[in-house]
Amino acid sequence: MYIKNLQLKNFRNYAEEKFEFTQGLNVLFGRNAQGKTNCAEAVFYLCTGTSPRTRKEKQLIKNGEDGAFISCTCAGRYGDVEISAAISENGREVKVNGNKITRNADLLGNVFAVFFSPQELRLIQDGPDERRRFMNLSISQLSRPYYIALSRYNKILEQRNNLLKNRDISLIYDTLPVWDEQLCKYAAVIACARAEYIKKLAPLASDAHRFLTDGREELTLSPDKKYKGDEELLKKRLFDELSQNYDRDIRLGYTASGPHRDDITICVDGIDAKNYASQGQTRTAALSVKLAEVEIFRQECGEYPVLILDDVMSELDLPRRKKLVSRAVGLQTIITCTHAERVLYGQEVNKIMIEGGAIKR
Ligand SMILES: Nc1ncnc2c1ncn2[C@@H]1O[C@H](COP(=O)(O)OP(=O)(O)OP(=O)(O)O)[C@@H](O)[C@H]1O
Ligand SMILES: [Mg+2]
Repeated sequence: MYIKNLQLKNFRNYAEEKFEFTQGLNVLFGRNAQGKTNCAEAVFYLCTGTSPRTRKEKQLIKNGEDGAFISCTCAGRYGDVEISAAISENGREVKVNGNKITRNADLLGNVFAVFFSPQELRLIQDGPDERRRFMNLSISQLSRPYYIALSRYNKILEQRNNLLKNRDISLIYDTLPVWDEQLCKYAAVIACARAEYIKKLAPLASDAHRFLTDGREELTLSPDKKYKGDEELLKKRLFDELSQNYDRDIRLGYTASGPHRDDITICVDGIDAKNYASQGQTRTAALSVKLAEVEIFRQECGEYPVLILDDVMSELDLPRRKKLVSRAVGLQTIITCTHAERVLYGQEVNKIMIEGGAIKR
């Protein structure tokens, strides 16, 4: 899979620009604050329907303009595909091959993308939210049923949480079992898919980490142990857990168990990375997880995703930079950096210099 070209119109600091990418290494370089990350963001947005930087889509529109329009042509999973997004104050309109799509589920899966930036350290350092976000985005790209189950789960969960705040306790007690039946059906789909995903991701992440550290460190990932078993069993167990905790949830005013509380445990040399890993270890661990994600896409669908490396080169030492670049062979990689990296010399690289929201030709 790869992005052939990209058009940006009134997107972030771009007025109008067109990019041509190659199948291999593409380097966006230039001084700070010129639009390198903005371009990388647009690529990821068109692949996944989500910005890696913000949930406020209005921010994507160039200041002072009414709307942004971005589009790209990609060699996707099912052949060439045109993806476009018109973003305005009132929302967005995404089209795949000219057909308007109403659900993000219809966009996902056309072109896979993995985004890595220094912010991804949050995957290791922050609370479970970031790790769930990672799983959700990654698994949703691979599995439409997962994405749909997740959307429905979130909707019902929100309704359940609203209900828990109701003053009419008997209404709550009467209604909860009905909600929970539905909630647990989707929860089981989510929990099972996550367990399966982590089972595949863990050995790949360990491999990548060993590779990046020359075998000096051992990275282990383990899924949430709370929910083991098949979908039917998980559904029943979660239903029981919720039923036994009505009082607790009413007191709290929200639902305190379920996949929206899951986590992944990430350890370096057997010690919880969240609290104990050094900066360098954290950075390498995050990168290993992302490289494992790249590998999963290939294993699951036979093709590599588009790998976007935003500003990560400067953060790694030279041996690790070299290793990273050596991993990026055979797939389309879009790298942003302030200097066209020395480690890239000698390789066939499509260098694009960015200045003030435009390509410097
Ligand atoms: N909606 C917007 N409208 C206009 N300009 C914007 C908008 N959003 C961001 N910008 C501007 O885009 C500029 C470039 O941002 P970007 O993050 O792409 O820089 P960069 O080239 O990646 O720089 P760095 O090397 O520091 O990471 C910033 O100065 C920012 O203020
Ligand atoms: Mg940047």
